[in-house]
Amino acid sequence: MISSVKHIIAVASGKGGVGKSTIAINLAIALSKLGQEVGLLDADIYGPSQQRMLGVSDDIQPEQKDGKYISPILAHGIKAMSIGFLSGQGVPMIWRGPMAGSALTQMLEQTFWGDLDYLLVDMPPGTGDIQLTLSQKTSLSGAVIVTTPQDIALLDAKKGIEMFRKVNVPILGIIENMAVHVCAECGYREHVFGSDGGKKLSLDYKVRTLASLPLDIRIREESDSGSPVVISLPDSEVSQCFEAAANEILEALKTKTERVDFPEIKISED
Ligand SMILES: Nc1ncnc2c1ncn2[C@@H]1O[C@H](COP(=O)(O)OP(=O)(O)OP(=O)(O)O)[C@@H](O)[C@H]1O
Ligand SMILES: [Mg+2]
Repeated sequence: MISSVKHIIAVASGKGGVGKSTIAINLAIALSKLGQEVGLLDADIYGPSQQRMLGVSDDIQPEQKDGKYISPILAHGIKAMSIGFLSGQGVPMIWRGPMAGSALTQMLEQTFWGDLDYLLVDMPPGTGDIQLTLSQKTSLSGAVIVTTPQDIALLDAKKGIEMFRKVNVPILGIIENMAVHVCAECGYREHVFGSDGGKKLSLDYKVRTLASLPLDIRIREESDSGSPVVISLPDSEVSQCFEAAANEILEALKTKTERVDFPEIKISED
């Protein structure tokens, strides 16, 4: 059976460590809380993080199905697939680019996703092979660009936007992460990574800002303990930001309602 999916959305940025995985997971769960069937694919083959962030223990492994497929892991209401589930945590992937590419293709095509409304793809940092392949060979409905307000991150985010534009993938919006730190003791607000960078980027590229998230220790703590904030702190301001962003995505894509079969994607070395 070929799985079918209405929308594939990439969560990407040019730069590493800006919060893509954290945001992909929380957005995916926020969408599922809004009644959508959601899958989450960890496209970070060399540095998968979803196993830890979703709190899936090392002894839980995807089951085979009909000898051809692997079942995704169910966590917090979403269906997830990551190379980390298959290899175990802490095992380094020492592969050349094409091997990583075909591992990703297999996870995409051979996971028994079932019918999905949304498949979020947590992208690795950069604008390299994996990003290009995914954006060219799958029919992405759009990309969400994650950035911090810092100049260096914005520069990389611009590269990400340009790359998606080149391959005609619409940018659904920008999520500005770590925008402001509010001191838990005294409430002092500090723009650790600069201010308004994401908003400037939105204006320059005429794309909307889906959310502006604070630098909040609880996001890191909950994430590290495998319990995303939208689950562990559902009434927090941060969770409401994720819900609002999920609603905006639903709104932006609501015109397309039919599911499409996965397009065949082929990765070659050239
Ligand atoms: N708004 C936030 N407040 C506090 N900590 C955060 C926030 N966003 C992300 N983090 C933390 O920052 C670290 C990096 O986040 P994450 O792994 O999501 O980034 P990434 O962009 O996916 O990184 P990579 O490029 O390595 O894949 C994690 O420890 C995460 O818990
Ligand atoms: Mg990541």
